[in-house]
Amino acid sequence: MSAPLITGSIGKPINRVDGVDKVTGKAKYAAEFNVPDLTYGVVVSSAIAKGKIKSFDASDALGLDGVLQVFTHENRPKLAWFDISYKDQDAPPGAPFRPLHNATIKYSGQPIALVVAETFELARYAATLIRVEYEEATHETDLEANLHKARKPKHGVADLLKPPPPKPRGDFDKVYNEDPNKMAGRYVHAAEHHNPMELFATTVSYDKSGKLTIYDKTQGVTNSILYVSQVFNIPFKDVRVLSPYMGGGFGSGLRPQYQLFMAVMAARELKRSVRVSLTRQQMFTFGHRPATVQNVALGALADGTMNALYHDAYGETSQFEDYTEVVVNWGGQLYPTENVKMDYKLVPLDVYSPLDMRAPGGVTGMHALEVAMDELAYDLGMDPLQLRLKNYTDMDHNEKRPYSSKELRECFRQGAERFGWNSRNPEPRSMKKDHNLIGWGMATGIWDANQMPARAEAVLMVNGKLRVSSATADIGTGTYTIMTQIAADTLGMPVSDVLFKLGDSDMPIAPISGGSWTAATVGSAVKAACEEVGKSLLKLAKKMPDSPFKGVKWEDVTFADKHLRLKNDPLVAISLQTLVDQNGGKAIREITGALPNAFKQKNYTRSTHSAVFVEVMVDEELGTVKVNRVVTAVASGRIINPKTARSQILGGMVWGISKALEEESVMDHNLGRFMNHSLAEYHVAVNADIHDLDVIFVEEHDDIVNPLGVKGLGEIGIVGLPAAIANAVFHATGRRVRDLPITLDKLL
Ligand code: MOS
Repeated sequence: MSAPLITGSIGKPINRVDGVDKVTGKAKYAAEFNVPDLTYGVVVSSAIAKGKIKSFDASDALGLDGVLQVFTHENRPKLAWFDISYKDQDAPPGAPFRPLHNATIKYSGQPIALVVAETFELARYAATLIRVEYEEATHETDLEANLHKARKPKHGVADLLKPPPPKPRGDFDKVYNEDPNKMAGRYVHAAEHHNPMELFATTVSYDKSGKLTIYDKTQGVTNSILYVSQVFNIPFKDVRVLSPYMGGGFGSGLRPQYQLFMAVMAARELKRSVRVSLTRQQMFTFGHRPATVQNVALGALADGTMNALYHDAYGETSQFEDYTEVVVNWGGQLYPTENVKMDYKLVPLDVYSPLDMRAPGGVTGMHALEVAMDELAYDLGMDPLQLRLKNYTDMDHNEKRPYSSKELRECFRQGAERFGWNSRNPEPRSMKKDHNLIGWGMATGIWDANQMPARAEAVLMVNGKLRVSSATADIGTGTYTIMTQIAADTLGMPVSDVLFKLGDSDMPIAPISGGSWTAATVGSAVKAACEEVGKSLLKLAKKMPDSPFKGVKWEDVTFADKHLRLKNDPLVAISLQTLVDQNGGKAIREITGALPNAFKQKNYTRSTHSAVFVEVMVDEELGTVKVNRVVTAVASGRIINPKTARSQILGGMVWGISKALEEESVMDHNLGRFMNHSLAEYHVAVNADIHDLDVIFVEEHDDIVNPLGVKGLGEIGIVGLPAAIANAVFHATGRRVRDLPITLDKLL
């Protein structure tokens, strides 16, 4: 073609298509959909961690004018129950928690009643008047005090994505004993809670026919509609779940949360529209990153060849579900060590089931492993980056198969160069600035690159604009934007002519948005649906009189600049508008799905990788750590949009700093309750904690992962940060802090 293309948006840093709506308040969240005659529900939480409810006295609350009902296990609808074999899309093995099921208290903060009133303020006040008598039982909430109860997890279908540790290989004990260089360490992580800006909320709009329109905070409307229809035995046609925007999820919206149950139950019982919004305190009552204890031992020959690797982990879980995550497998996958022993056990406690939180298990296990690597490097007197290069492999040594692509070596090279790693003096305490110690540390990151099945619809309308939809979510990641780009490029259209919609259970089905798989999963479905439209356009082109496309195959055409074109002679072209006009005044509508290509994928491990380099500054007198600068180099396949992609990695890096230095849900084991349940006391990194963050995307081509070559970016950004920071703190101070978070008391 002679003129340069005006279409072709993939790879360009276009602004978020939903950006203006989000910053002007036009984007609405679950608690912002106002419907006439709305009522308000406020949840009452259990004050004890274990035992039974002996009695409720709701008379004062019910005596207030405008209080409509107080729901408890005593008066909840019989119908509203579900078979415990029901599993939401992120349910671990076990029996899911059922709000208001009976008098049993399983954890502190458990929802035990819902007060519904004509106004929010009234409901909130009435909730304070409910008197509850409990019969307390002894609870156990302390992981470290209960390690002797550790047992193997029960496994379920989710194990496809969360495989148990592979069988031991070689002879770890013997080889480790004989190794000239070795380390062993124990690493303890505090529990953490998801604290997205948006609180969990559900607004149920009830219409006289009994149909429910539900605005829910969720990472998957499909997951929510399945839950509602199963729990309340409602046919799909009578429920619709919408979630056009989400103010942050990080995993907390992967499971239907209890406000959804409460709001739907109340709406059906009262035949009114109901909103239930949780408080910030209640954000600490439905799942958390589990506290863990890990042990790692690494052994190497004098030249740095790592030949012995041990990694075990103990994670907490609830008494009713076996929440698991992949904590220990990464070392066996990442390093070509021949003698490997890995173990993973659970300790059931009187807490709610833990819940996936950004890079679940990955950021936990890789912290311990990559700090251990640093410890081994010091034992060897070897540069930590050299140790990783010495033990570099293109194979997944757990599965004994190659990676579909792995540009980690290039991440190391580009990251180290940008950071200036080569000028590092390995000696701890060798760098100072005024009264501050400076330290440099590095670590590797790894995460899975998965694809799930999904469907999408594409409609080329008579006005030549394209509408595309899928019941997926944009959890802040940029889904709206990159799907618009993928659709636009597939049909050679400018992004301004494409409207992508999501977050509606009436749309073609998509899985929960998590696990870093949305770009690959929904992107593949969007591409497939747009290709179906393209094929229909080619058919229309062939039917036109004197068509230059007669006898032309799909493989021989392309779409660019709003035209269907011959690949090898792009000037032979028909405009999309001309083609739509041939369709008898009708839009061209196609719905189709995309499945992972199991045949292509089965002989490969699919992962994203990163190399992280950090500089910290430690004030020795105060014990404070400041992360001066971070360079993260990421290999994650094809980057659809460098701007939204960079934002994903930056977000992960910020959280990595937060996790390394600040985040910790503090449990009072006497009460069995998380005590710092507010943003005043649950510390997260704020602007003042964040300094120079640099992101490099390393070029990586991969046609095995999916036809788009994308691997997903939601989680890899956090994985390497905590270890790199801990290693930098060691380099600065000579103090090896193995527990997270590295609060100042640990450095004094
Ligand atoms: Mo993510 S923890 O899979 O939302």
